[in-house]
Amino acid sequence: MRAYFNSDNYAPVLPEVMDALAAVNHGHEPAYGADPATARVEALIRAEFGERAHAFLVLNGTAANVVTLRAMLRPWQGVVCAESAHLNVDEGGAPERMGGFKLLTVAAPDGKLTPELVERRIVRIGDEHAVQPGVVSVTQSTELGTLYTPDELRALADLAHAHAMRLHVDGARLANAAAALGVPLRAITTDAGADAVSFGGTKAGLMLGEAIVLLGDGLEGAMPYLRKQSMQLASKMRYVAAQFEALLTDELWRRAAGHANAMAARLAAAVEGLDGVRITQPVQANVVFAVLPPGVAERLQAEWGFYTWDEHTGEVRWMCAHDTRAEDVDAFAAAVADAVG
Ligand SMILES: Cc1ncc(COP(=O)(O)O)c(C=O)c1O
Repeated sequence: MRAYFNSDNYAPVLPEVMDALAAVNHGHEPAYGADPATARVEALIRAEFGERAHAFLVLNGTAANVVTLRAMLRPWQGVVCAESAHLNVDEGGAPERMGGFKLLTVAAPDGKLTPELVERRIVRIGDEHAVQPGVVSVTQSTELGTLYTPDELRALADLAHAHAMRLHVDGARLANAAAALGVPLRAITTDAGADAVSFGGTKAGLMLGEAIVLLGDGLEGAMPYLRKQSMQLASKMRYVAAQFEALLTDELWRRAAGHANAMAARLAAAVEGLDGVRITQPVQANVVFAVLPPGVAERLQAEWGFYTWDEHTGEVRWMCAHDTRAEDVDAFAAAVADAVG
């Protein structure tokens, strides 16, 4: 069977996570998060993100984003984010429909917000006719595989706070970012001034589960109600918690994400010199974006799994995961060379 480069969502569950699921699968435990595994995860998240951190486990990343942002916003406020943000392009309108908030998007060619880009959306403050910007939301690592440094995040947090706004981090791939930067999770969240994080488990190797991590100023008071109202309170919470416990034990997340990142770097190195292959984004996490000569992507896709990212430009996305093998990367790179040659 050919390897897939479609998505880290295509990858199987980490063996350690499967073992953790089996290990909690005995006897009766209190439901809805009152179980010992959930308490252990809450403590592990405090150890990672700092003592102020409050964790609320949910079932998927769209919900983590929408429920977190519901907690962060008043009804007349909106979210400044990149046009390419998952929130804007891949959540089926859930922010608008389920969250009821407007997205104030800005074009960001590499997927990254900057203070200058955000400032363009901090306008008409106090004008009752205009949606008021309430949150800046960044994705780390971004949808385009790029990274924010801790300093870049700090500058965005400072700007947000100077305007009485808050900083949200969509960390569906926070593990990839921290592994690539060689920093603890808190260096690109808590210590950079973030107010809330959607901390991804699924793409890191869980079967399902994401953690909303609230980092201060009393947001946690509303969250139990918002999570339930948003249909994200799992009754058998121990099974979500057990997976996170495995991921957060002995930095399994760093090993798994670091491997995925290394495989993307290997792929980029193997194809970047090829005539006809143009890598379109810096390869900083676990994904490579490229443009190929007309018709080549379609030929490769007959045998290898990957997405066409932009139908207009033909840009393709090759994503690696915790289980991507070096030999699969090398075989795919050889297939690319063959196809362009
Ligand atoms: C940046 C980002 N945020 C959030 C998500 C979560 O999405 P889902 O609701 O599919 O778990 C994804 C998944 O692709 C993502 O890439």
